[in-house]
Amino acid sequence: MFTQDRPYSFHIELTDKCNAACPMCPRTDHTNHCTPDLSKVQNIELSLADFQANFTDDFCRRVSEVDLCGSLGDPLAARDCLAICDHLTARGVGVSISTNASLRSTKWWTELGRHFTRTPSHVEFHIDGLADTNPLYRINTSFEKIIANAAAYIATGARAEWHYILFRHNEHQVTEAQALAKEMGFRKFVLIDTIRFGARDRFDYQLPNGAYRSLQPSACDGASFQTGFAERVAEAPPPAAGDGGIVCKSAVQNRPYINCGGYVSACCWTAGSNEELLTLDHAGLRRSAFNIRHRPLSEILAAEPFVGLFERAWLGGANPICQRKCGQMIRNKRYAV
Ligand SMILES: C[S@@+](CC[C@H](N)C(=O)[O-])C[C@H]1O[C@@H](n2cnc3c(N)ncnc32)[C@H](O)[C@@H]1O
Ligand code: SF4
Ligand code: SF4
Repeated sequence: MFTQDRPYSFHIELTDKCNAACPMCPRTDHTNHCTPDLSKVQNIELSLADFQANFTDDFCRRVSEVDLCGSLGDPLAARDCLAICDHLTARGVGVSISTNASLRSTKWWTELGRHFTRTPSHVEFHIDGLADTNPLYRINTSFEKIIANAAAYIATGARAEWHYILFRHNEHQVTEAQALAKEMGFRKFVLIDTIRFGARDRFDYQLPNGAYRSLQPSACDGASFQTGFAERVAEAPPPAAGDGGIVCKSAVQNRPYINCGGYVSACCWTAGSNEELLTLDHAGLRRSAFNIRHRPLSEILAAEPFVGLFERAWLGGANPICQRKCGQMIRNKRYAV
């Protein structure tokens, strides 16, 4: 799955902490004032020391990119986020950050921009609307603060992208948001069609103040918008079907996942899942052997289950997550417009 002769492109969850409370996020209990779901959130994080120990000068020469995103938190909520970005970019690694961007001071963002201009790095600002609509989904964030942070960051010359999840309540503002993005110097504007409604036509949630609201899917899809952005990204051709009809995104991109507890997994979709536990159990492997705090990262990646176990599971049709995500390609769709 992962090979040492290709550069690694990591996906890392720095923390499960977050300032926001997006109703459809797995960390949020949307039925209870959008408070953190404590059956999932442990309030933990990776530290600079974890990166110094594993992302050494030598190892960083084999890493092209580190994507700081994750499943349960916002990278900016990790205490050492800035120091970790400094550590990686000083060693030639490109970093990308996905964030709601409402945390930290403009001074912090200027510092981040300075680190990010060292390497091909960028920030994905996840802003789903304008001042009146963004906080309907990005609960507990301030649009004014997000825009001030983005302006401070962009002023350093570092690369910024505006990512926008389409809902019924923000679909009428796409053109205006795009114009603002362009005016501010964002280099790319990306629309996201979410799959999180499933077959439902609404998603009910309780706001922090106790009031009830519902989200509705957008009536438009991302592909239907036209823009004047210069950087148009061509649709990627569908990959050729691999083992058992599955084209493993992580294997193609040599992209291991590390969660905020230090555990290494094949990807964010399988991380912590029953399927992952079963695959490891079946092979007599303990999960603690895949933690960068117990064993060097380079050694973890060179051993099972990342050598042949997953491929065998695909061939046997044994992993429903893999079949869904990388067989039937049931994922959010993104359109750079
Ligand atoms: C858990 S977040 C972690 C990163 C960061 N906190 C953020 O929100 O950008 C992981 C990703 O899920 C995305 N996300 C949140 N709600 C979503 C939704 N309803 N549909 C699709 N993606 C969603 C975020 O925009 C982000 O790209
Ligand atoms: S900002 Fe990201 S981590 Fe935080 S609640 Fe929203 S989607 Fe989840
Ligand atoms: S879901 Fe399975 S096939 Fe897809 S990236 Fe993850 S491990 Fe690979």
